[in-house]
Amino acid sequence: MPSATQSIVVEPLPVPKGSQASFGAVVSNVDIENLTDDAFASIRDALFTHQVLVFKGQSHVTPKAQFELTRRFDPAGTSYGHGKTLDAKRSILHPDLKTIPHQPQVQVIGNGFVPSYEGLTNFKLRHPHHRTFHATQIPDEDDLAFTRFYRWHIDAALYDLAPPIATTLLAVQVPKGRRQTLRYDDGTGDELDVPLGTTAFVSGEAMYDALSPEDQAFARSTKVEYAPHPYIWMSTARSRPTGLGLVSEGKELPLDQLPPVEEDKIQVLPMCWRNPVTGKLALQVHPSAVRKLHLADGSVVDDLAKAREIVYRLQRPGIAPSKVYAHDWEEGDLVLFHNRGVLHSVVGAFAEDEVRLFRQCNIAATHLPEGPVEAAVSA
Ligand SMILES: [Fe+2]
Repeated sequence: MPSATQSIVVEPLPVPKGSQASFGAVVSNVDIENLTDDAFASIRDALFTHQVLVFKGQSHVTPKAQFELTRRFDPAGTSYGHGKTLDAKRSILHPDLKTIPHQPQVQVIGNGFVPSYEGLTNFKLRHPHHRTFHATQIPDEDDLAFTRFYRWHIDAALYDLAPPIATTLLAVQVPKGRRQTLRYDDGTGDELDVPLGTTAFVSGEAMYDALSPEDQAFARSTKVEYAPHPYIWMSTARSRPTGLGLVSEGKELPLDQLPPVEEDKIQVLPMCWRNPVTGKLALQVHPSAVRKLHLADGSVVDDLAKAREIVYRLQRPGIAPSKVYAHDWEEGDLVLFHNRGVLHSVVGAFAEDEVRLFRQCNIAATHLPEGPVEAAVSA
């Protein structure tokens, strides 16, 4: 029942033995369909403190309420985080999302055939599989037992539209039970036991905190230039086996094969984004979309392979198995995450008959992320 005395409860997620993934919290005693200003203020504080919030038992939440919760972080925002760019048939995001007709900021994602859902009928969802994106693959015979991070990312168009502040994911239907071994396949031997179809999160703040003082200073003073129309630009390139950025084989589409590029829509963003509540810095780079680095001395690293190597060296320690929170989805889970403070990745390989149905929402922000204070002052 809606009430002025709604008092939400926030409990940090238990950190498994041996894990250093000390972020995330479970939120209870909240009515998302009738969210009071006080309850939202508490959720907002909790989100910027814990980065990932899990609300259990939310199957009843409508697409409209999901949209309204997501938009409340930036009430003037109106369009989906990727705007209409999803319509571009060459975008690598195009096959993975279906738009809810009556709430176009909310997308349906998942796996398998769905007869009917929220005005969509007889449609097939396809859980992204690393074989469609990685330069190397797990052999077919190992494919149901082993998996990889598909693509570490921030939900962001990275061209024209500002990165969304928050993303919501609602698990409508979840196939039961098995687990998989996630391989990094990068020569380290790193592996992670994960629930089937988990969403993996790492904290950008932890990623920044773990850097050496020299690397922190570099990250604070460097800006990242993203490719124009990045999801079309990268559509012909392939990922590293860790899902953390692309291998450099010169396969990206040349700029003259992209839709028209407007220079003022190209985004050059700080490498570190500042948390609006705590002031903490997160190392926030969408590794696959990086095109150039702008350094403090005014020079530009425009050698793509070199820019990627620099970013990879800074980010890779932050996705070590001990740093990952792999959410074990149950039907009705609504996960709200701070898209400007974490990286996340789809994980897993489903069989054809394993039906998974999720709703995702994020809203293009009305302002770009803020960088470190000293950079803001000198800019
Ligand atoms: Fe995402």
